[in-house]
Amino acid sequence: MKDHQDHNLSADDWDEKYFPRTARQDFDDVVDRAISRRGFLGGVLAFGSGAAVMGTGMLKGTTAMAQGASTFPFEAIGIATDDTVHVPEGYTWKVMVRWGDPLFSEANGAFDPATGVSPEMSDKVFGENTDGMELFNVDGREVIAINSEYVNPKVNLPNNAGNAATSLDEIRMFQHFQGVNVLEIAEGENGWEVVVDSPYNRKIHHNTPMTIDGPAAGHDLLKTAADPTGTQSLGTFNNCGSGRTPWGTYLTCEENFNGYFGTTAERNWDDVQAAGYQRYGVRTKVDGGRYNYHGFDERFDISKNPNEPHRAGYIVEIDPANPDRTPVKHTALGRFKHENAAYAIARDGRLVVYMGDDERGEYMYKWVSNDPYVEGGDTSTLLSEGTLFVAVFNDDQSGEWKALLPETTGMTQAEISIFTRMAGSAVNATTMDRPEWIAVNPAAAEGYCCLTNNSRRGVINDDGTVRTNAGAEPMTVNAPNPREVNRYGQIIRWRPAGGDHGATGFAWDLYVMAGNPTVHGDIYGGSANMNAGNLFNSPDGMMFDTAGLMWIQTDGNDGNEGDFAGMGNNQMLAGDPMTGEIRRFLTGPKGCEITGITWSSDKRTMFVGVQHPGDDDGTWPDHNGSLARSSVIAIKRDDGGLIG
Ligand code: FEO
Ligand code: CA
Ligand code: CA
Ligand code: CA
Repeated sequence: MKDHQDHNLSADDWDEKYFPRTARQDFDDVVDRAISRRGFLGGVLAFGSGAAVMGTGMLKGTTAMAQGASTFPFEAIGIATDDTVHVPEGYTWKVMVRWGDPLFSEANGAFDPATGVSPEMSDKVFGENTDGMELFNVDGREVIAINSEYVNPKVNLPNNAGNAATSLDEIRMFQHFQGVNVLEIAEGENGWEVVVDSPYNRKIHHNTPMTIDGPAAGHDLLKTAADPTGTQSLGTFNNCGSGRTPWGTYLTCEENFNGYFGTTAERNWDDVQAAGYQRYGVRTKVDGGRYNYHGFDERFDISKNPNEPHRAGYIVEIDPANPDRTPVKHTALGRFKHENAAYAIARDGRLVVYMGDDERGEYMYKWVSNDPYVEGGDTSTLLSEGTLFVAVFNDDQSGEWKALLPETTGMTQAEISIFTRMAGSAVNATTMDRPEWIAVNPAAAEGYCCLTNNSRRGVINDDGTVRTNAGAEPMTVNAPNPREVNRYGQIIRWRPAGGDHGATGFAWDLYVMAGNPTVHGDIYGGSANMNAGNLFNSPDGMMFDTAGLMWIQTDGNDGNEGDFAGMGNNQMLAGDPMTGEIRRFLTGPKGCEITGITWSSDKRTMFVGVQHPGDDDGTWPDHNGSLARSSVIAIKRDDGGLIG
């Protein structure tokens, strides 16, 4: 990043910087992996030459995909480095909702361009740092659920010394700015706008009551003084990517939850708690951490509430059609830094949910329900009774989903749900370069995952060992993560055996290795489908539209120089899954990340999220000296045609 101050770090980047990992591993294992790396490099070069990247080599039987392939309906645009949004000729964008906009009329005029929003109004306005979102048509009304991932104290408390909270009121304000916004929207003469005071409008934040279900519900590790049952918690945290269920509910994904916890005193936590803090990056040093919740709100102080962090890091289900329904934390889908949740249906009807754990060297997961999904039938068990699997990628481009069960992990089912990362380690899951969003192709049996980057992949420590993940597993270069110090990221694709998402076997390849062929002539130049016209780094958000295009959003280095020359501001591109062609569709304002995408029910509007715009002097979208405001924009074709 170009001289980003801490206050400009995204939630992911802040976590990378402040939760460094120890470097311990077994020497024999390092040698073993080094040998397999030599064996793999030839394969990588073959990728670079083209065919394997496009999946025409080992992956056969893709006729369905060929029929679903689309030609691009737009001309690619160039990069930008300015403080606004650009889209191709024939398209128009407009802000739909910004941080601080009222969801309830009580908060009309609540946003001040110089000071932001007051604590009193903070639970009545659209939250900060928009991320994953999904739209639902509820009885003919358009209801959209939108995550607010994290707060940016520099923007949210612009006049406080050090931009730090100084009172519980200000901490409450932070807590209200994050979570999930549910709001009705409607298209009128001024385009799409919030329906203020709609009965569907709802703020779900860091203090909203939740129910905990699944194998960990009621476990001792989830019990606190305030909730001796271990089944009722408050709040959903660091809501990153999104998902939906086939029965019309919203899934919000708790990612860097660790950053909200801290301690006012060092104490001897028990071994299980201490190991969990280490693996998940919960801070055990006495300091203010990122937000200093624990300095004002005892619930977040692990010296007093050591189990509270165990109640975050889950997939949470929200019913957008029923504002009174309590959100449910589904522990069966595991506890890790959840990026998003992309569902598919197995051939026998069981629900499959693919999920990534976004941290260096962590894993990819898949949930498979016990019972089949039946439209209009009972769906109550589909996110609580089933099997969680973790991905093992073999260097020969085969792979396997390994079941996380007591017999495979040596852990109880409740422990697997709470310390899922340790369960993955127990079955030797493959360390990945930060799994971000997963997307399932609706036209072919295949999934894609953005592996955004990994600054420590293959890095050698002073003592000659290789950097490890937080589970002390060496992040040696491997086939799906083939580059040391991976600055650019790649998108991995897998096809389940027999074309059935319920299968445990799969074949995989790399859809794209991002890179910069204008700077590098080697593997850092990227795969053959990277060129001077579509340069990008750090793929993150990703989703298919109904026409079969795959939309790719970036959260990367926007310095536009050196390794990143010619990449410009963060952006959104579209990829053709069959040909591998990738075109740039949108560029964001400086400093931002583009994340979150969904469509109106008629597919004539695409909604896209702009997170943490601004950099040091950006004022998008209001300009005129205003604080920068994270926003969701609505994009339409000028001819009113379909846009996804
Ligand atoms: Fe919130 Fe990994 O992105
Ligand atoms: Ca982000
Ligand atoms: Ca992300
Ligand atoms: Ca990211």
